[in-house]
Amino acid sequence: MTNMNILKDNVGRMAADLIEDGQIVGLGTGSTTHYFIKYLGERIKNEELNILGIPTSYQSLIIAREAGINTTTLDEYDIDIAVDGADEVNHNLDLIKGGGAAHTLEKLVDSSAKQFIVIVDQSKMSDELGSFPVPIEIIPDALRIVKKTLIEMGGKPELRMGMKKDGPVITDNGNFILDTKFDIIKNPHQLETELNTIPGVLENGIFSGLADKVIVGKMSHIDVINRED
Ligand code: A5P
Repeated sequence: MTNMNILKDNVGRMAADLIEDGQIVGLGTGSTTHYFIKYLGERIKNEELNILGIPTSYQSLIIAREAGINTTTLDEYDIDIAVDGADEVNHNLDLIKGGGAAHTLEKLVDSSAKQFIVIVDQSKMSDELGSFPVPIEIIPDALRIVKKTLIEMGGKPELRMGMKKDGPVITDNGNFILDTKFDIIKNPHQLETELNTIPGVLENGIFSGLADKVIVGKMSHIDVINRED
């Protein structure tokens, strides 16, 4: 395992240990939550826990099934606790997510959970958001118009292209992603709100004020940062 994967494994295991019997659990997307879902599945099996997962993507649904976690939907249950990764985290615990194009359902699941825990390796921490381009999910018909608006707002939008698939990435919801680089994002909440008012935008990857706790895997130890109320 690479050093980076060891850090992801460590935080995934720590988050899995926080889950309590009887809880409904939001299952995030990405390489870090992969470890979380795997360890949660092991706990369910070994401790005979009664837990249901609510996936945030086809990826987390498939991993949950492989791990033996029964799944349900937000139509059936409220979420007690959601665990998810992030692409960038600032000192206020604001996030940029969507590197895996799953941020629309992730935001629905993570924001509706009673408790939202983020698991990351140390490379994701930064003083201010903006190094990672903001993923913006748009309906395909809006491509030209939304790009124009984003450029007027000072962004540099790029249509995310597929790998081993010609043409653009198509999200789990059948849409496109515009990865949009902004300079340092001084006010994440304001930009998050403004982006979502553009007609044709479904959801953007800024998660401001949502995380309750961030678990950071470092080479020497694990840091746990709690939101100050
Ligand atoms: C999925 O769209 C993203 O929001 C992921 O949660 C985020 O990209 C973190 O992924 P990794 O754990 O793979 O870095």
